[in-house]
Amino acid sequence: MHRVTLIPGDGIGPEITEAVKEVFSSAKAPIEWDVVQAGESALKTEGDLLPLKTLQSLSLNKVALKGPITTPIGTGFRSVNVSLRQKFNLFACVRPYKNMPGVSSRYENVDIVVVRENTEDLYRGIEFAPGSPEVAMITEMSKGLIATDAAVSIKSISATASRSIAKYAFDYAKANGRKKVTASAKANIMKFTDGLFYESVRSIAKNYPEIEYNEVLVDALCMKLVQDPVEFDVLLLPNLYGDIVSDLVAGLVGGLGMAPGANIGSKMAIFEATHGSAPDIAGKNMANPAGLLLSATMMLEYLGEVDIAKRIETALYTVLNDGKYVTKDLNPNGVSTTEMTKAIVAAL
Ligand code: NAI
Repeated sequence: MHRVTLIPGDGIGPEITEAVKEVFSSAKAPIEWDVVQAGESALKTEGDLLPLKTLQSLSLNKVALKGPITTPIGTGFRSVNVSLRQKFNLFACVRPYKNMPGVSSRYENVDIVVVRENTEDLYRGIEFAPGSPEVAMITEMSKGLIATDAAVSIKSISATASRSIAKYAFDYAKANGRKKVTASAKANIMKFTDGLFYESVRSIAKNYPEIEYNEVLVDALCMKLVQDPVEFDVLLLPNLYGDIVSDLVAGLVGGLGMAPGANIGSKMAIFEATHGSAPDIAGKNMANPAGLLLSATMMLEYLGEVDIAKRIETALYTVLNDGKYVTKDLNPNGVSTTEMTKAIVAAL
């Protein structure tokens, strides 16, 4: 039995984590859930976005399944997701996206893994408000290139973190029979930061002669992805570009409701879907549980429970292929979250 931290999260989070619990229980997955809160729900009940109890549970169990968390825009709160990734050094965000049976998409044979650096870049959170002493100092240092009424954010890219994520991507490619790694950034404009990213990745790529390596500027990558996604295999990106490109690739294979993900460090892993808390459909029993369910099967594989992971995936694919008992993001005449969950349980 594996004890795993479960964070239901905000918005659609509780609905889709409930779905995963139900499927896991029917599949007799050997998981004991340690349920704790984070995000808006934790702020309401415990007065803290990221309570100590939650951090203790994560430190103890070292593996977690997490629902999405709402991050209030433009207020003083830092993102709970970003804090968790930095606090536990979950440096690798891994998101496998491929066409699934019965899920309509403009493309066929897409099978792309986005590997995103998860701890630094503009998401480091070094940001200053207009008129702050820091902005005045930066304005002074930049010889007036930055206006004093500007808000300023600092992009910090290190060779250490870039090499770590590159090593992760190449090891992943090797272990999973992947043929090619494509690094992507904007090094023609961001010469020092993205330049250092490329330079660091190249220093690792040369140790993996069996894996093809190339670089594509991130704007060109977006165009090439929508023109011919099949030419890509593993994509390796710094944090911000990785965040944006992840959603783009999710859109190529059926949308955010289907997109899984994992945040992996050397000692801990938190599994979560790519999507957010979807406030527009929260509480309406409409959310597609597949993204979180596939993240949960990634978690089972990480824990060595490969057979049960495969059984659950097969059950999900059966339901998707049938196309009737799926949520409305996949079929306008589709069913609710709970009905889709029941169909997955029946398929098991
Ligand atoms: P979102 O991913 O929550 O929603 C974007 C669109 O996709 C919406 O139309 C939504 O209804 C749809 N969608 C998302 N998940 C779905 C699902 N499972 N089934 C069916 N449709 C689904 O992105 P948005 O609206 O930009 O962000 C909402 C909140 O989520 C924000 O506070 C944001 O900061 C937070 N967020 C949290 C993440 C996390 O906890 N890992 C990741 C991304 C955003």
